[in-house]
Amino acid sequence: MAIEKTFSIIKPDAVERNLIGDVVKMIQDSGLKVKAMKMIQMDRAKAEGFYAVHSERPFFGELVDYMISGPVVVSCLEGENAIENYRNLMGATNPADAAEGTIRAAFGQDIQNNSCHGSDAPETAATEIAYFFNDDELVG
Ligand code: CDP
Ligand code: MG
Repeated sequence: MAIEKTFSIIKPDAVERNLIGDVVKMIQDSGLKVKAMKMIQMDRAKAEGFYAVHSERPFFGELVDYMISGPVVVSCLEGENAIENYRNLMGATNPADAAEGTIRAAFGQDIQNNSCHGSDAPETAATEIAYFFNDDELVG
């Protein structure tokens, strides 16, 4: 298995409920290494650009409103098979369908307020990391 980088967001619902540490603990306990991490407040244009792939979906407007409703913690994670492993750690998009032991089962509230984001493929991981981090911020 190759060493990969992936991109993570601890979303506003989890930050707001003081769950940053709990989510980071699950990430680190899984063996993923934090390469970069920062708390940011996205503006509308930044969030619309990030979720541009969903711009035609009916939930796009509400999704953007949610993602800018408060600060988020963005990170670059590294490890063997990191993209798939982190998707598995997050669990299904709808927390009601997420397997026990996943971040979304533990903390997600509903299909929108589902506590975390993770890249779904090598191309999106590279794009998403570069959307939030400069190379000199990947210090881990
Ligand atoms: O995040 P993930 O890749 O699992 O799901 P997605 O299909 O790429 O959707 C992106 C995000 O949009 C989700 O994580 C939810 O926060 C939100 N969403 C929503 O609000 N309503 C839906 N029916 C589907 C997704
Ligand atoms: Mg997705």
